[in-house]
Amino acid sequence: MPFDAQELRRVMGTFCTGVTVITTRDDAGRPFGLTANAITSLSLNPPLVLICVDRKAESFAHFYDSKVFTVNILTTGQEDLSSRFAKSGGDKFTGVETVPGKCGAPLIAGALAHMECRITDTLEGGDHVIHVGLIEHADIWNGDPLCFFQGRYRRLADA
Ligand SMILES: Cc1cc2nc3c(=O)[nH]c(=O)nc-3n(C[C@H](O)[C@H](O)[C@H](O)COP(=O)(O)O)c2cc1C
Repeated sequence: MPFDAQELRRVMGTFCTGVTVITTRDDAGRPFGLTANAITSLSLNPPLVLICVDRKAESFAHFYDSKVFTVNILTTGQEDLSSRFAKSGGDKFTGVETVPGKCGAPLIAGALAHMECRITDTLEGGDHVIHVGLIEHADIWNGDPLCFFQGRYRRLADA
């Protein structure tokens, strides 16, 4: 049986993840971002995380060019925000409270945690690229995580 994109989505859908919005900026300082769950910790020393960005994403070039990103880990109250950042086009940041990041990529207010990263490596990953980021700043807040499992948003209690 051929292993196609639908089958990959189905099998990876059984791997419960958190949900993040990864943000960056362009040369003029305008913010860009997308909903992402293909992120993972990579190294403790040095502290590295990786994100995977679709080559077709509108914000793709801005991650590539700016060499910075912030991972905003979402809470259960931020499901609408996740849906908004999972659609291409438009100004996704209108009405979204953000704080300027030290690396230039915005921090989304109310997130469970932020990791501000500088891209140290970019690797080929099929129709995505893998950006490796050195964590330069991080903070953690209180709250419950937004989860994603079998194509649906979940909370810890019903995940
Ligand atoms: C739960 C969830 C996780 C996602 N994870 C990723 C991801 O890790 N990488 C990615 O490139 N797109 C991911 N997407 C899809 C992007 O959010 C979507 O393609 C978005 O429209 C891209 O925004 P842009 O085209 O404005 O850059 C995910 C979507 C959802 C709903």
